[in-house]
Order: sequence, then structure tokens, then C-alpha cells
Amino acid sequence: MASPPVVRFPIVFLIRLFGAAAAAMVIAWVVRFRGGMALFSDNKDLIFNVHPVLMVIGFILVYGEELQEGGAPLCSVPCALLGVVGVWAAIKFHNEKGIDNFYSLHSWLGLASLISFSIQGLPPSMACVLGVYIYALGIATAVTGILEKATFLQSNREISRYSSEAFLVNLLGILLVVLGGFVVLAVITPRLARAARHSGTVPTRHRQLHFLLFAGIILMVDQFPIPMISSST
Ligand code: HEM
Repeated sequence: MASPPVVRFPIVFLIRLFGAAAAAMVIAWVVRFRGGMALFSDNKDLIFNVHPVLMVIGFILVYGEELQEGGAPLCSVPCALLGVVGVWAAIKFHNEKGIDNFYSLHSWLGLASLISFSIQGLPPSMACVLGVYIYALGIATAVTGILEKATFLQSNREISRYSSEAFLVNLLGILLVVLGGFVVLAVITPRLARAARHSGTVPTRHRQLHFLLFAGIILMVDQFPIPMISSST
């Protein structure tokens, strides 16, 4: 049998860095390009915008952290809450605009991720494998959601194919895929997994620092006067 991978670079730090960048990008996208977010508004697009932000932060970032904590069959409360409110926002947007629900591959994958997530506590022996599978499903769901939204915007001629907004969302998709690879690697790497289970030192050692960095990157990107953030052409 092949020997397990050995990680010789600061993978936990990279995961947090990429996670912070993904959060910053999805927030910058909806705030700077799509008009912001609201759970209740006459502008229904603002209700939709809550969806990608909460799903990326809840289902990709928070759940990724949860998995690295040892793959225990824990249901992450923050992840579940963000996921439920995030999907509720998408359904609310559909209902208030008179659009059908659950017609797309993205929405089916999304349902599959959420249902698998909610039953993951049942078979403890499969917890780690199932957790990684659900996480990968979450990444696939987020990427199809990004593609779908970008395609809607391009088909409605709201943005052009080579616009800076299209570039930003494509980059976000790539970032999520790379982040997902690092998280899976961290979870299957025995050294990290063992340390996480028995002492918790490796993934949690610099946690406060990483979260400060996380918040800093989000604030910086939101303030940064990037030329691409002012135009959709
Ligand atoms: C793991 C993360 C995600 C999950 C579990 C998820 C789940 C869902 C679900 C269940 C729906 C169906 C709502 C309905 O039919 O009323 C939906 C709709 C939608 N989501 Fe996501 N989503 C995720 C991330 C994203 C992201 C990052 C985007 C990027 C913009 C996105 C874009 C959309 C769009 C455009 C719709 C409406 C069209 C459709 O139903 O396919 N989603 N999502």
C-alpha cells in the first residue's frame, strides 16, 4: 500500500490564508459588484447575495476547520446555521421573484451536501471519509453555483465574458478548488490528524493569529480601490 502523504509546508496557515482570500473575494464580489446583501428588501437580488457569502463562509471555511479538528462526527453548529440561512436566502429569492425551486444541478448537489451533512453523525466508523466526501461535495456545489450565476449574468448581458467581474468569480472558483485540495490533504495527513485528535496543537496553535489575519484581509480587500471593482465591463 502507498505510504501516506507527508506535508512539509505550513498547510494550516495556507488553508487559513486561502480561506481568508476566498471570504474576501466573495464579500467584495457581492458588495462592490452586486449591490450588497439584505435578508429583507424590495431589491430581491440583495436577498440572493446573502446565499454565496454564507455558503462559502459556512460550508467551505467553517466546515473545513471542523474537519481538520479530527474528522469527528460533530455537527458544526455555526456551519449548520450559516448553511440553513444561506439556502433559505436562495429559496426566498426564488419565491419572491416567482422562480422555480430545485431545478438545477447546483441545487440538487446543494441539497445532497446539506442532507449528507445533517446525517453525518449516524455512522461513526465512516465519519472521516464521509466528512471529506461531504466537504468535496460542498466545493463542487459552490463551484457549480458560481458558474451558474456567472452564466446568468453573461446571458442577460449584465456583464461581458471578459469583464473584471467574470475574472473575479472565476478566480474565486479556482481558489475554492485549491483550498479544498489543501483541506483534504491536511485531513488525510496522519501527523496533522493525530495531533488534532490527541492534543489539538497543530491546527489550533496559531488560531487567533490566523483569524486576525483573516479579518485583516477581508477588511483590506473591501477597502482596496481595485480598478476592477468599479466596472462590470
Ligand atoms: C456549498 C455551498 C452551496 C450550497 C450547499 C448551495 C445550495 C443551494 C441550493 C439548495 C439552492 C436551491 C434554492 C432553490 O432552488 O430555491 C441554491 C441556489 C442557488 N445557488 Fe447555491 N449553494 C452553495 C453555494 C453557492 C455559491 C458559492 C453560489 C455562487 C453564486 C451559488 C449560487 C446559486 C444560484 C445562482 C442559485 C439559484 C439557481 C439555482 O437554484 O440553481 N450557490 N444553492
